[in-house]
Amino acid sequence: MDSTDKFLEVDTWQTLMFLYNAALKEVNTKIEILNDEFLHIHNYNPIEHVKSRIKSPESIVKKLRRHGHEVTIESMQQHLNDIAGIRIICSFTSDIYQIAQMISNQSDVKVLTVKDYIASPKPNGYKSYHLVVLIPIFLSDGRVDTKVEIQIRTIAMDFWASLEHKIYYKFEGNAPEQIRADLKDCADIVEMLDERMLNLNEMIQSYRGKAESRT
Ligand code: GTP
Ligand code: MG
Repeated sequence: MDSTDKFLEVDTWQTLMFLYNAALKEVNTKIEILNDEFLHIHNYNPIEHVKSRIKSPESIVKKLRRHGHEVTIESMQQHLNDIAGIRIICSFTSDIYQIAQMISNQSDVKVLTVKDYIASPKPNGYKSYHLVVLIPIFLSDGRVDTKVEIQIRTIAMDFWASLEHKIYYKFEGNAPEQIRADLKDCADIVEMLDERMLNLNEMIQSYRGKAESRT
């Protein structure tokens, strides 16, 4: 590669990172507006918090190699869905589906894939709702559709996934059987907790309804 090629590569890389950052901003704003609207109409805040990140160059290269893909800019655009990633943490499982629906329904959002690991958890117990979407970014010379991975989960699912992630790295994917079994147990407890919290919340809502109807 001569120095002109190298310059072009760096330029392409910077343009791409600019696009992924712009896409994160767009999705973050969409989520913020949905949350504000929800609060305004239903007096209720479905989103606990939102985290977003751009995948580091090191992780991009590692993932391309792991999957046996070429390490080039075109290859990364084609094969990686999670260079721009957003995680939405909700209180209740029902919020997850509502938020996913509200995002997918927007006319400028194109849903590429949906993975519902809540309806079908992974064998290790992982639960979360994943969407890969295309978001249009409008630049001075036209529109570029950019991929963003959106993960939606409850606080309890997020707690579990963080610990599982730590264990996965610590044991490089080969955690002792006892730890894997304990993690799976915890996943079942998370599921039960989410269900009970949702039921409790519904009960609280119905009480509030009664109190309001008396006044
Ligand atoms: P990668 O797992 O990213 O290679 O992509 P994939 O095509 O298998 O997509 P999938 O939807 O399964 O996973 C996407 C992302 O979800 C991952 O990069 C993680 O952030 C998260 N994820 C998936 N499975 C697990 C899991 O078992 N544990 C944890 N902690 N996170 C997971
Ligand atoms: Mg995976």
